[in-house]
Amino acid sequence: MTERCQGDTRPRTGPRARTAIVLAAAALLAATSAAFLPGTASAGTTLGASAAEKGRYFGTAVAASRLSDGNYTTILNREFNSVTPENEMKIDATEPQQGRFSYGAAEQIVNHARSRGMSVRGHTLAWHSQQPSWMESMSGSALRSAMLNHVTQVATHFRGQVVAWDVVNEAFEDGTSGARRNSNLQRTGNDWIEAAFRAARAADPGAKLCYNDYNTDNWTHAKTQAVYNMVRDFKSRGVPIDCVGFQSHFNNDSPYVSNYRTTLSSFAALGVDVQVTELDIQGAPAATYRSVVEDCLAVARCNGVTVWGIRDSDSWRASQTPLLFNSSGQKKAAYDAVLAALNNGTTPTDPPTTPPTTPPTTPPSGSCTATLQDSTRWGDRFNSQVTVSGASNWTVVVAVTPPQKVSNTWNGSPTWDSSGNVMTMRSNGSGNVFGFTTMANGTWTRPVVRSCTAS
Ligand code: XIL
Repeated sequence: MTERCQGDTRPRTGPRARTAIVLAAAALLAATSAAFLPGTASAGTTLGASAAEKGRYFGTAVAASRLSDGNYTTILNREFNSVTPENEMKIDATEPQQGRFSYGAAEQIVNHARSRGMSVRGHTLAWHSQQPSWMESMSGSALRSAMLNHVTQVATHFRGQVVAWDVVNEAFEDGTSGARRNSNLQRTGNDWIEAAFRAARAADPGAKLCYNDYNTDNWTHAKTQAVYNMVRDFKSRGVPIDCVGFQSHFNNDSPYVSNYRTTLSSFAALGVDVQVTELDIQGAPAATYRSVVEDCLAVARCNGVTVWGIRDSDSWRASQTPLLFNSSGQKKAAYDAVLAALNNGTTPTDPPTTPPTTPPTTPPSGSCTATLQDSTRWGDRFNSQVTVSGASNWTVVVAVTPPQKVSNTWNGSPTWDSSGNVMTMRSNGSGNVFGFTTMANGTWTRPVVRSCTAS
């Protein structure tokens, strides 16, 4: 037990803390040959609760027209903690006539979700498909302006209510070309995607901005590599992209492949979050559903999984029976596999991807040296380990960056300054390596060792 619940940020000092410290120390010793600590099993009984215990969400596409179906909403409200409007935020729905915006159906879904504590993924601001006819017939600079105006208006309307936007959807060609899809939007100029992202950032600075696509699951595919190269380029040039959505519509023509995890982790290593955004699997094989969830849980920056509908009868590919509930709303074997995978989920094993802003080692002060190393990272928090040399009775001062908070420590006796951001850790006979967990609260800056003093 090296963890505490997410909301509890007080430092541990009481007897229970000492028990935890002993257990944590044992875990740390057991893990000395491995780079990371083992994961913790959860006991959630719904997809959303179990995902939340792992710091993730579990979402579904929702159709406004089905919110009056009691069987549907019972499952929705019980199982899911994230919602994506299936069609209601698309361009044809939100701007059916140029300059006339229509948000009713989207708002119905947003209100249903938010009033029940579910988060909302916005889908989608710019796409070659499901354009209203006025946009389909546009081109050139008029289309460019209309597209940017659409992005601005819709993102502004829902500002603060949408956790992540699929800013641009499906902009790459299938097959081996690795080229951009030849659409009316692409023909306005190759920079249309970054222009859309900039407009979205200006309109809703608090939302994560995603690029979303399908057939980008297989790491070796040209389309996957092409999107990867675009994201890498965007990150290097400061284009405001925060996440990549993998639709993950798996079927016999486009099957799940075991390098999916490599795909997720490779994108994450670029410094973006990754999300499984539209999951459905032909025939809903339990093992494949389990693999997808395990792959997401294995990647620290995989925020969550959204399935593209609740019951098979709700699916856009209903004849493939690709979802977690049958048409009467009963749980399928795939549901049990997903829930088990969420509850047994392993600890993420990829290291922090945000470049550290301070050097890992701080020069000695007094007569000892303290070296800080990164350890496990989860979706919301990370562990650090400090190795002291040159003294057996030592005092090490460590600072975290607000709004970070230390939530747990082991192998030392901590005290705190009034801000709660500066921890003074004293040796307590547990050796010369201590550790602590920092709740990131959105900031992934590495903690800084300020001093090491021998006493
Ligand atoms: C689908 C919807 O599920 C259908 O109801 C609609 O008729 C067509 O679009 N990729 C996407 C989704 O990004 O928006 C699509 O949703 C499925 C493929």
